[in-house]
Amino acid sequence: MPKAPGPTPREILALLPQAQADTLGFLLALTARWGDVVDLGIPLRSVVVVNAPAAIQHVLRDNHKNYTKRTLQYDALATITGRGLLTSDGEHWHRRRRMQQPAFARPRIEALDRIVVPAVDAMLERWAPSIERGAALDVDAEMMRLALEVVGHALFGIDLGRDAPALTRAVMDTLDSIVHRARHPFSAPRWVPTADNRRFARALAALDDATYAIIAERRRAASDERDVLGLLLAAKDPDDGRPLSDRDLRDEILTLLIAGHETVASALTWTWLLLARHPEAYARMADEVGDLLGGRAPTAADLSALGYLRGVFAESLRLYPPAWVISRRALEADAIEGHAVPAGALVVISPYVIHRHPALWSDPERFHPERFVAEPARHRFSYIPFGGGPRICIGNEFALTEAALILARVTQRCRLSLASAEPPAVEALVTLRPQGGLPMQITLAK
Ligand code: HEM
Repeated sequence: MPKAPGPTPREILALLPQAQADTLGFLLALTARWGDVVDLGIPLRSVVVVNAPAAIQHVLRDNHKNYTKRTLQYDALATITGRGLLTSDGEHWHRRRRMQQPAFARPRIEALDRIVVPAVDAMLERWAPSIERGAALDVDAEMMRLALEVVGHALFGIDLGRDAPALTRAVMDTLDSIVHRARHPFSAPRWVPTADNRRFARALAALDDATYAIIAERRRAASDERDVLGLLLAAKDPDDGRPLSDRDLRDEILTLLIAGHETVASALTWTWLLLARHPEAYARMADEVGDLLGGRAPTAADLSALGYLRGVFAESLRLYPPAWVISRRALEADAIEGHAVPAGALVVISPYVIHRHPALWSDPERFHPERFVAEPARHRFSYIPFGGGPRICIGNEFALTEAALILARVTQRCRLSLASAEPPAVEALVTLRPQGGLPMQITLAK
């Protein structure tokens, strides 16, 4: 069977600087030139970029058992999250997923309004002095803090309150460091005390302290809350009946802390940016919220009637999917759309790239929430902000509900506009981030 088309080794060498400096642009150009399945042509290391819905479905769902997470991307993340749900595989992963799934069931998601609305109100209180002075706020940092507080309350029953800014800083320091290493393959080993390694070690120690404190506090409280922490603490190993070790608990908690806040915060930040740049969409969303709720706080039950607002968020996830790359490694040789994929090949799927596929999306660069209001039939795997198949994001519904409640509550109370004429550039780190944050001017809604 033939290999997929793609650049020659000489061509890929010439493209490497772009691949490093502008990975998203590189991936878009690559698929535009060579098609939906591209072999990067790297000697001795097969890397295949897959950008067709049916092919993505094959890797993530139909033949998922042949594709592991033992990739550079997930191995790097595992230096932070160990064997947590996001970075583990096989039977270990399957058990952990079954253990945690009940904490993400409907009734718990529907109770999120009781956590999210007070957290937003507290944030707006914090904003009041800046609003009064007309000073800009970094909405990116604010969304990070808010999303971390929500995760703390909803999953671990803990008020991260004052610790939130330091914790988000520690998360960002560890994530930035693994991205830095991925981009600089000749970085010094972790044990060498370079500035980056020392920052990483300090941040990881802070995250360890925070997660072990969460475990200790719950044990002290002896609560029988069935949130994810309660489920993990009550779980027994089906083979030997033993509870999870503290190290296992730490890996799962840290995974949820990281996967559950940076992604949501990134998505909300891009949504505020898009709304500020599309005043007609912003006004329509505000009208929808005002007509339905007046001044009353939103509940999860209201969200089904906020179709345009949900369309805005879905469209923002299309244009700026926080998890912009998903990788897998083939265990055995496979065929994707008639192209050979050798055993050991790295398979790269980019939600960012498939969400801009010109054959799947009309005018793909345009922000157009209506695409998700009257939903036309589309291939399930053409829109994958949360991945797909058995490894689909466990926090999918959690994130959609949380984000919609935040958008509605903030919109009832204020308007956000860009503080500078030049919007920030997109940085493809572990998630898509606005370079230098997102300073915005906040005014009270009329
Ligand atoms: C807009 C917000 C979010 C986005 C875009 C997002 C995206 C994703 C994606 C694409 C995956 C699959 C990765 C893969 O297949 O390689 C994933 C997995 C995961 N996400 Fe999310 N996520 C979001 C919010 C959340 C939240 C709120 C939580 C927890 C509360 C969470 C926890 C996880 C976990 C634990 C996994 C691993 C699941 C498994 O492998 O069984 N995520 N997420």
